[in-house]
Amino acid sequence: MEIPVGFIENGQLQFDSSQDLNRAWDLGVFYIKRQSTMNINQARSFCNDLVMPENPYRKIPKLGELEGFISLENNQQTKIALQRKHWDEYYPANIAEFGRELDGIGRVIVNEVLKQSGIPEELWEKASSGYSTGEGNSFLNFVYYDTTKSDLGLRPHTDYGFVTILDATAPGLQIEVEGVFKDVPVKEDHFIINFGEALNYITANSEREVGAVRHQVTCQKSENPIRKSVVYFGNPDLDSMLYQLNSRGDSANQSTVLDLFAELEQRLTQ
Ligand SMILES: [Fe+2]
Repeated sequence: MEIPVGFIENGQLQFDSSQDLNRAWDLGVFYIKRQSTMNINQARSFCNDLVMPENPYRKIPKLGELEGFISLENNQQTKIALQRKHWDEYYPANIAEFGRELDGIGRVIVNEVLKQSGIPEELWEKASSGYSTGEGNSFLNFVYYDTTKSDLGLRPHTDYGFVTILDATAPGLQIEVEGVFKDVPVKEDHFIINFGEALNYITANSEREVGAVRHQVTCQKSENPIRKSVVYFGNPDLDSMLYQLNSRGDSANQSTVLDLFAELEQRLTQ
């Protein structure tokens, strides 16, 4: 499977050809070249160190269902998940900074999607409940998959936010293309990007809708390399409003993020 490769230049997402952009938009997945100024090694070693018993970051408290240091006995994952407002308090400064760089990339991607959608630029902020201008919520998570424990991996799902940015050190990610799950190989010096449900929602009435791609992470086996991932979710604030605008700026529909996510959750469990 050919996965297109984009890059950021002059603050904009670009592809070598319009065919590549079309393919990226159709798939809902693409690679993006990592800027050489980003310190990916620090982020990876932060993830790598999660399993060291004396690591002080294992003491980050659980801050709700989805946040904090999480290590489950019957699961391969050891992880830390934190939303943006907690980065400075709990992450080391360089990791919080790394998260803000990912925020910048997420914003560039969402803005390109909005540009392609034909929604007038002065309404991007409204459509995305502020994500396009640096608001919204985002998560920066570190996941260490211990391959010696048997587990099912991550079941097929879509991401709920606008955009997901992934750095993975080993294969395992698969996306669904026409009903068949296909590997998304790790590509050196590149992030893997996928679109989420909130982005699908706000473009659904526009000239160019993007879809939230279904994906899964296959079971890790003890003979597989240990999979460490740094994953960023660019999300809207839960208590904000999303709008389905068209190119004239008219809204066909609107939803609170909470309602949209609840609806998605229901679809998932059905
Ligand atoms: Fe996901």
